[in-house]
Amino acid sequence: MGRAGFCLKDFRRQIVGIDMKVPGKDRRRLKYINFDNAASTPALEPVVKRLQHHLKWYSGVHRGTGYKSLVSTHEYNRSREVIADFVQADLDHDAVIFLKNTTEAINKLSYRIGFKPGDQVLVSGMEHHSNDLPWRSRVRVNYAGLDEKGRLDLSDLEEKLKRGYPRTRLVGICGASNVTGHINDIHHIAALAHEYRAQVLVDGAQLVPHHPIDMKPIFHPGHIDFLAFSGHKIYAPYGCGVLIGPRDTFEQGIPEYAGGGTIRAVHSDAVYWADPPEKEEAGSPNVLGVVGLADTLSYLKKVGVGQMSEYEASLTEYTLNRMSEVRGLSVYGDGPRVAVISFNLAGVPHSLVGAILCYEAGIGLRTGCFCAQPYVRYLMGEREQFFECLKSGGNCKEPMPGMVRISLAAYNTRAEIDHLVEWLKRISGNRQEFIRRYRYDDLNDEYLPRDYDVAMLSSRLGKSLY
Ligand SMILES: Cc1ncc(COP(=O)(O)O)c(C=O)c1O
Repeated sequence: MGRAGFCLKDFRRQIVGIDMKVPGKDRRRLKYINFDNAASTPALEPVVKRLQHHLKWYSGVHRGTGYKSLVSTHEYNRSREVIADFVQADLDHDAVIFLKNTTEAINKLSYRIGFKPGDQVLVSGMEHHSNDLPWRSRVRVNYAGLDEKGRLDLSDLEEKLKRGYPRTRLVGICGASNVTGHINDIHHIAALAHEYRAQVLVDGAQLVPHHPIDMKPIFHPGHIDFLAFSGHKIYAPYGCGVLIGPRDTFEQGIPEYAGGGTIRAVHSDAVYWADPPEKEEAGSPNVLGVVGLADTLSYLKKVGVGQMSEYEASLTEYTLNRMSEVRGLSVYGDGPRVAVISFNLAGVPHSLVGAILCYEAGIGLRTGCFCAQPYVRYLMGEREQFFECLKSGGNCKEPMPGMVRISLAAYNTRAEIDHLVEWLKRISGNRQEFIRRYRYDDLNDEYLPRDYDVAMLSSRLGKSLY
């Protein structure tokens, strides 16, 4: 690994919990396969070990003078450099702000842009709710259209920029979709946005974990003004998210959270704010989450992000080819994508497919709308009735429409994909048999094996330490 490049076996060995077995239906022990990396990725052993070491030195940051506090503060501040380097941000121009996750990062930006009456934001019809809802309550939101496969329609985006000029302040676009995995040409979109004097925010939650990313120098037409992403989707434990963007955006105005750490001086009748990023990080920060993210990114850089990305691309292609062997299976989307694949199996509800794979094949994945209901609805079209029923306040007893999603990472293998495909074929060939073996729990909107002891789930984490 390292200088020799990405080695699947070595990388896989570093994944915490990679060889675990889980209880399945009929008390069988199943080898666990994680295909839910778009939700959260497992942590890396060397990072966890280093964090255990860091815990010995762990102390409050910024305001302490003890040696441990100095060490912690140094590590915390150094993390900004590591993270900026990973995405090629320019620390002379940008602030790296630590938050909980992408959702918090985009919400923060929505407060800090300083919208004036009449301003608009342009997002796309393929966004996660986290890059849609934060804008709705602050400013008028327009949506760039999609083509029939759910890909971004760039000419519609440009048309809307043209019509929205000069009121469109920001274009907010996902680097990659969490539903179809479609990759957007972020630099082209940034160049378009800049032509119409708008800034660009890239929601990097699904792109940064799967692709090398370069925000590019500020004089470059395709420069990314703002980037948000989540540590928990890129192997970093303990939850830390990042918002990167021009310092001057955050120098103006009052932060949406104020308090300890955000100020230079406070008088009874005046507040002098600290410079960003401190101004934007109210209260005691999540030091371990930040250091864990920086360590993870350093480790991934050593492994080779480009090579990991190439491996994921070949695994995705292999998966799509193998899935095409399954009768009645339709995949959503088409074209360049990260390792995210959503599909449905004709005649079997999405959440039943998920339950069978969970309880009988040991596979972890996600079903439903993946916090992107407008997009899923666009792609599915025909289930519009359900949403109409909800809109009119109806109580829809049938399962929520949705899809099955697998999301792969660089430690997943072809053998795991083969196992999935074998099970999908089994389900497709024995629909009625599987449907009989499960019951629908409409309270939790999920399927359960008729004989499954749910209480067993709560005893899985082992005995309490206390
Ligand atoms: C594209 C995209 N944006 C934003 C988010 C929100 O990320 P978080 O839950 O870490 O805030 C997600 C989460 O799945 C996502 O996939």
